[in-house]
Amino acid sequence: MAVFPIRSWPDPVLRAPAAPVSRIDGEIRRLVDDMLETMYRAPGVGLAAPQIGVALRVVVFDIGEGPHHLINPELLETSGAWSFDEGCLSVPGRFWPVRRPAFARARGLNLDGAEVEYAGEELLGRVLQHEIDHLGGTLILERLPRRTRKQALKELREEALGLGGES
Ligand code: NI
Repeated sequence: MAVFPIRSWPDPVLRAPAAPVSRIDGEIRRLVDDMLETMYRAPGVGLAAPQIGVALRVVVFDIGEGPHHLINPELLETSGAWSFDEGCLSVPGRFWPVRRPAFARARGLNLDGAEVEYAGEELLGRVLQHEIDHLGGTLILERLPRRTRKQALKELREEALGLGGES
């Protein structure tokens, strides 16, 4: 297992749609292991493969109940609404209240190639939506209200140019 550097905004790999995994082999097993180790080290509750520079549809997460992974996940269903202070390892150190559906159900494959499904509200629902967003090249920034997004992008650009107040 290995810890990989986590790509951060504005890395273009975070904006590109990830490709489906066509064959679950040793490489994908190693990818899942590496992603889990990278996520735990960060630490975070979820990680998508593009965040370590691999444009494949693979996510891992652990909301406190142990490690899980999903290969080629699809969001099947969402409902309700819930606002929660959400962050992203690729936009480090920042949190915004983000309104999303409270409940989510997702299906994908595990490393044995078997179909698995996760469904839940609150943190589980949130993590499923957030990580599957990453696979489509969508970052938390796109989930912010227009005004908040504009301000966030302004701050991030200034920071990237070294104009930010924080070092
Ligand atoms: Ni994220």
